[in-house]
Amino acid sequence: MGSALPNDIDHVLLTEEQISSKLEEMAAQIDADYAGKDLLLVGVLKGAVMVMADLSRKLQHTTVAMDWMAVSSYGSGTKSSGVVRILKDLDADLEGRHVLIVEDIIDSGLTLSWLMSNLRSRGCASLEVAAMLRKPDAMKVELDVKYIGYDIPNEFVVGYGLDYAEKYRTLPYVGTLAPHVYEN
Ligand code: XMP
Ligand code: MG
Repeated sequence: MGSALPNDIDHVLLTEEQISSKLEEMAAQIDADYAGKDLLLVGVLKGAVMVMADLSRKLQHTTVAMDWMAVSSYGSGTKSSGVVRILKDLDADLEGRHVLIVEDIIDSGLTLSWLMSNLRSRGCASLEVAAMLRKPDAMKVELDVKYIGYDIPNEFVVGYGLDYAEKYRTLPYVGTLAPHVYEN
């Protein structure tokens, strides 16, 4: 890691290397579990874009299709409202498909809980979740998440797809924001 962190980043939680090696492990598990099957990856916009791109390219033995969904539960703030709206629905019909939701982060779990029951009602053959990050101390609902990258402390994080007011998504690592950013 270079010495020049952007001024807005307080500290790095997960380096680019840590993210990449964890995604290798997750991809190997997914490959083993779905061998010989067709898998539909459902990415949740916009945060999961990086996980989707990197995880999907590490899958060696699974035939994947990709689709995207955009939901809103946060606005531009940092707290989940629990009220989920579909901003962009899937193009794909899920009937009879093996579906894997690809998520950046599970915080309260409210978004994912809602999304899982929504997608399950569309008649998938199977439905699982792969999430890069999870905040166990923030979770408000029990969720069965099959593939999980890292458990992290209950702090707001940015980078690797995660934003604060649409900024910082392109940072290659996951880090916490310096307090002055929130105070503006
Ligand atoms: P819930 O609370 O419903 O939230 O599990 C899930 C969604 O909220 C966003 N989220 C974050 N975004 N830094 C972010 O940039 C965070 O620390 C954070 N925590 C939650 C994210 O879009 C996630 O899918
Ligand atoms: Mg998300």
